[in-house]
Amino acid sequence: MNIGEEFFEKTKYPFVSESDQDKELPCPPLETPQTGEAIDLPEPAGFTPGPVSVAEAINNRRSRRKFSRQPLSLQELSWLLWATQGVQEQGKIRTVRTVPSAGGRHPFDTFLAITNITGLKPGLYRYLALSHQLILIREDKDINDLIAAICHEQKWIAGAAVTFIWIAVPYRSAWRYSERAWRYLLLDAGHVCQNLYLACEAIDAGCCAINAFDDDALNQFLDLDGETSLAIYLAPAGHK
Ligand SMILES: Cc1cc2nc3c(=O)[nH]c(=O)nc-3n(C[C@H](O)[C@H](O)[C@H](O)COP(=O)(O)O)c2cc1C
Repeated sequence: MNIGEEFFEKTKYPFVSESDQDKELPCPPLETPQTGEAIDLPEPAGFTPGPVSVAEAINNRRSRRKFSRQPLSLQELSWLLWATQGVQEQGKIRTVRTVPSAGGRHPFDTFLAITNITGLKPGLYRYLALSHQLILIREDKDINDLIAAICHEQKWIAGAAVTFIWIAVPYRSAWRYSERAWRYLLLDAGHVCQNLYLACEAIDAGCCAINAFDDDALNQFLDLDGETSLAIYLAPAGHK
């Protein structure tokens, strides 16, 4: 059995151990705390994207790797963040968001490599989903080139206005689901990125899912240990 086959075998229910939730251990935070000066994002509820129907968004969705130089506005970025991780209800052990997630655990945090968003300095940012805010982690005008290099030299990434970088925090899901949580990370990440594709269509923008990247280099770039938190999926985006 190779490692992939073994993963599916060993995460079948008969092998899954009792969860920390069942052992009544405390629930981990619903989002990773981040210090820094918070930037309020425009209210997503007040934003009405162009008249694109769900059917049109689904039919027109493509992986897009060429972007115009037109910046995305802060309102448009707010919309894309809302569509991918926006929190609609917050409970003690779950959040209800614009995307589904097993048990409402939403085991992700969103980092953003920003180069062409009106009013924001180029650099690395974190999205705080619970408060719908951004935090600047560090300024970096070369961030797109660095991300492109980490993604096996996919040079087209350098033209993106923003690259979404979703990182997984496995224990947020494993607290409830033990070993089976690692399946859910991968499934849940797909929902997040698909919503980005569809939300982009609504604002005449596009994106492309990326999984070809150097895991260790990206984790190091984001200051993640690669175990309790790790980069899992990326998507550069910008106007068509
Ligand atoms: C899990 C996943 C990983 C992907 N990784 C990359 C990637 O690293 N680079 C890239 O250019 N496209 C990547 N893609 C985009 C696919 O190549 C694209 O979805 C496929 O060619 C079909 O094209 P379409 O999305 O326009 O229908 C990825 C897509 C998925 C779903």
